[in-house]
Amino acid sequence: MLTDALQRPVKDLRISVTDRCNFRCTYCMPQDEYEWIDKKEILTFEEISRLAQLFVQFGVEKIRLTGGEPLVRHDLHLLIEKLAPLEGLKDLCLTTNGALLAERIEPLKHAGLKRVNVSIDTLDAEKFKRMTKRGDLTKVLEGIFAAKQAGLAPIKLNAVVERGVNDDDILPLVEFSRANGFAMRFIEYMDVGNANNWTSAKLVSKKEIIEKIAARYPLREVGREQGTAPSVDYEFVDGQGDIGVIASVTEPFCSSCTRARVTADGKIVTCLFSNTGHDVKSKMRAGASDAELGEFIANIWRQRTDRYSAERLEAMNSATYDPKSHKKIEMISLGG
Ligand SMILES: C[S@@+](CC[C@H](N)C(=O)[O-])C[C@H]1O[C@@H](n2cnc3c(N)ncnc32)[C@H](O)[C@@H]1O
Ligand code: SF4
Repeated sequence: MLTDALQRPVKDLRISVTDRCNFRCTYCMPQDEYEWIDKKEILTFEEISRLAQLFVQFGVEKIRLTGGEPLVRHDLHLLIEKLAPLEGLKDLCLTTNGALLAERIEPLKHAGLKRVNVSIDTLDAEKFKRMTKRGDLTKVLEGIFAAKQAGLAPIKLNAVVERGVNDDDILPLVEFSRANGFAMRFIEYMDVGNANNWTSAKLVSKKEIIEKIAARYPLREVGREQGTAPSVDYEFVDGQGDIGVIASVTEPFCSSCTRARVTADGKIVTCLFSNTGHDVKSKMRAGASDAELGEFIANIWRQRTDRYSAERLEAMNSATYDPKSHKKIEMISLGG
């Protein structure tokens, strides 16, 4: 089995299919313009599926398509069609802001998509507009219910919680998800990329999130799916619904992190907080064989030592952490 320098296998692959987005969430992509990746540098669906197949041979069981906003990539269902039948792949998922989901759901489902995660940080339309700068809550809700109607399951909703911005939306989101059969996942606000001016003051910790929910709806901890998922899950004592919190800041899960990432322009990245990627696209375009590409991937994984979130927590605890001192690849190109 392929393992990294800290004995972690490779089990999940997150593929960013585009760096473009139709939203400008203030915590992710606050600027209007970025240095966009040139179209010809973006991996084709054939290149993506070739890489995916190699990763699956190394033990990847789960693939998530993300971005940027994956649904702004034309004909995404054609990629799903290529990935869904991969032998050994147990789970294929899409993370989306939901704005285009209602109009795309039929071809996506037909192509083999079984489930989606939709990001929704508030149910207040005005605030939603402020947080996403370009988003329309009605469209996102239409998308979520279209996915439900089409039979995709489970439908998970993701909310990044930012202090003073949407921490008062935690309970309304819990109630909405419980009432409609969605699984709610709260995400601690992270210092991804370099543009979001993250400070720990904006962070609402997992502990706080759970206390707030449990005070109203008692919870029982279930733990991490398969022991390695980013989210720590809880069920409600009354049996209605489930929630989880992704606490990469206050409870880092580096020691069990089995995720590799492929950027929209074909770089392999071994941590969400990396400052470099390994250019696999150039090798593919220069005619490398599957065996050569496999060796390239395996070598990268064998040398992997990343444990950025664990180091950040150690630094935060000793009050020496300065998020700006560590340059990172923007989340839009490496895939959240
Ligand atoms: C980068 S987005 C890409 C997929 C899609 N556009 C979406 O919004 O779901 C993937 C996930 O990263 C989360 N995210 C973005 N910036 C974040 C931050 N600073 N801290 C925590 N999560 C963040 C988003 O909320 C979303 O759930
Ligand atoms: S979180 Fe998703 S929807 Fe929001 S700006 Fe980032 S990529 Fe776009």
